[in-house]
Formats: sequence, structure tokens, C-alpha cells
Amino acid sequence: MIRRPPRSTQGVSSAASDVYKRQDENGIREDGRKADEMRVVEIECGVVPVADGSAYIKWGKNEAIAAVYGPMEAHPRKIQRQDRAILDVRYNMAPFSTTDRIRPGFNRRSREISKVTRDALESVVDLELYPRSKIRVEIEIICAEAGTRCCGITAASVALADAGIPMSDMVVSVAAGKCNGIVLMDLNKPEDNYGEADLPMGILPMTDELVFLQMDGDLSMEEFQLAWDYNVKAAHEVHKIMVEALQKRYGGDV
Ligand code: CDP
Repeated sequence: MIRRPPRSTQGVSSAASDVYKRQDENGIREDGRKADEMRVVEIECGVVPVADGSAYIKWGKNEAIAAVYGPMEAHPRKIQRQDRAILDVRYNMAPFSTTDRIRPGFNRRSREISKVTRDALESVVDLELYPRSKIRVEIEIICAEAGTRCCGITAASVALADAGIPMSDMVVSVAAGKCNGIVLMDLNKPEDNYGEADLPMGILPMTDELVFLQMDGDLSMEEFQLAWDYNVKAAHEVHKIMVEALQKRYGGDV
């Protein structure tokens, strides 16, 4: 088991934490969802006209924009790879995205999320097609309510598809977790703050292959399996919304 450090209580008042009831007697969560239910997800492509590809995602109260530029020649030359393109991924939370003002610029958390996002996307993008090139992926979190890395990875996948970058599949990122001893899909902010575990995963919907997994907290084998199953089911639901967004912009089969 992996021990989870106490979570930050940013954005949740102490009064709210005292009275916060995670589920009622019918298993309905504070925000009206069942245990295996996602927050509402909406996606729109082509929202940044100057980018080669872009996507806006609203995921519960989370909101993010991903923009893709390239492929372009990689500069300086020392970063070039002779046999393939590099992905230059930057995840950033806007200073106004949470109740506490975020200090602008890169920090340890944004570096870590940028890296896991790049690693997940590298497993699907056909980088060998573009030697010595760079594909720039910018993810900006506009409003944060827990689960922003999943939001960012999913939006970036759609933005890459919108840019016409060849990929073997789109990465769908979702997270189940545990709160008050119950495995729950897609933790919202209070559930994330007071919960015991979080399991973000990156899933390829065509094969159910896993391209990233980060576990934070305590889960038994049975809970881990249930969280995994919830994630795979949710990934297919989100994939449908991703495809619909691309179809709305381009029509036909995607
Ligand atoms: O966003 P995600 O769940 O992927 O990452 P996290 O590090 O587990 O952060 C959980 C949530 O804490 C974020 O979605 C934000 O709502 C909040 N947070 C914040 O308010 N200020 C920060 N500097 C970092 C996170």
C-alpha cells in the first residue's frame, strides 16, 4: 500500500469540511452523482484560431484550453532528434483558476504534470514522421476543481487530432479515487481534499491499453480493480465526447 500525505484543503472552508457528507443513504454523492458517475464533460475544437489545433474542455467546474503548434523545426539544434520529432508540453494553471492566487510560472507540480502529459502523448503520436521537428502543446487550466491533469491530457489529445497530427489513438485521461472508504469515479474538489486515494490513468480507447497511471493514497487490490474498471468505462464515455467534438468541426468519420 502507498501512504498518502494529508491533502490540501485549499478552496474548501472548514465549515464545509465539518458538515461535508460524502454520500447519502442511497449512495448519492454531495453533487448528485452515483459512485461510478463522471462529472459532465463538454469539448469544443478549434477555439484558438491562430493555433494549428486546439480544444476547450469543460469537465464539471474544471475548464482548460489546449493549443498545438507545429510540427515546426526544433530550435535550438541541440534539442533536435535526428530520427523523430520532440513533443514540447507545458501545463499551466492560470493565476485566477483557483481561490488562492497561483504564483505565475513553472513550479514542481506543473513540471511534473507537463512531463506525465508528454510521456502519455508520446506513446500515441507518430513522431518518426517528423525528424528534427518540434510539436508544441500548451495546456492552460482556466478553472480548477480537481482532476486538471486528466482534463489537460484529454484536451491535448483532441487538440493534436484537430491539428491533423497522425496518432495511433487518442489518450483519454480519467481518475477514480476513494473517499470515506468508498471507491468513486472522478473525485470533485471536496472528495479529492478529504479522500483517501486518487488513481489518474491514461487509456487508449481502441485497445484499453494504459499509457499512464499515477496512484496517490491507499487502495486494496479489490478497490484498485474497481477503480480501474470505473476508469476504463469512463474513458469510453469521454472518448465518445472527444470524437463528437471532432465530428462537429470536420463532419463524417473521425
Ligand atoms: O488537478 P489534479 O487533480 O490533476 O492535481 P492535484 O495536484 O491533485 O490537485 C488537485 C486540485 O487541487 C486541483 O485540481 C486544484 O483544484 C487544487 N489545487 C489548487 O487549488 N492550487 C494548487 N496550487 C494546486 C492544486
